[in-house]
Amino acid sequence: MENMVPDIKLLDKKFRLYIHASQIEETVKKMVQKVADDLGEDACPVFVGVLNGVFMFMSDFVRHYPYVCQVSFLKMSSYEGTDSTGKVKTLLGINEDLKGRTVVVLEDIVDTGNTLVELHSLFKDKGIKDFRVATLFFKPESYSKDLPIEYVGMDIDNRFIVGYGLDYNGVGRNLPHIYQNIEDK
Ligand code: IMP
Ligand code: MG
Repeated sequence: MENMVPDIKLLDKKFRLYIHASQIEETVKKMVQKVADDLGEDACPVFVGVLNGVFMFMSDFVRHYPYVCQVSFLKMSSYEGTDSTGKVKTLLGINEDLKGRTVVVLEDIVDTGNTLVELHSLFKDKGIKDFRVATLFFKPESYSKDLPIEYVGMDIDNRFIVGYGLDYNGVGRNLPHIYQNIEDK
């Protein structure tokens, strides 16, 4: 069934099916289970999603979360086209009082880790009781930081992907599957 999903073209680049929507769903459910088991029933965590890429993951994650929780977003940007610029900008911050709270930052993908470093400095003086990071996708070959990532859905190749919230120059976020850039195309 999976090889029936055709290649696609977005702007100037071609992409091929890499992770089917059904596999993403399974992975998200497993992550939710693990986080819920670790935090327990009474933690009332604040799930903070990093926009824009996280919107689909966040929506699927919290709808499966079995206990009381809060949902919030912040917005960061580091990519231009298919390359990380290395400079992370915070475009929309967090307004909630997070003192004494359990905070789980949800990321669509951790690549170089630059965004993660920025996230840690953003949250460090807020008196948070328990701070964790959960990312759906992780590129181990690209990651160059020492910061821990408590929950990783899937390790992936060090190649550019789109779909399920992730974009190429603004397009492709609506695709239900994850597609990988076909080299040199
Ligand atoms: P980092 O700061 O290099 O870890 O990159 C984190 C952000 O870059 C992610 O939250 C994404 O928004 C974006 N990003 C990294 N890799 C990809 C990719 O393969 N496709 C689309 N966006 C990506
Ligand atoms: Mg992102």
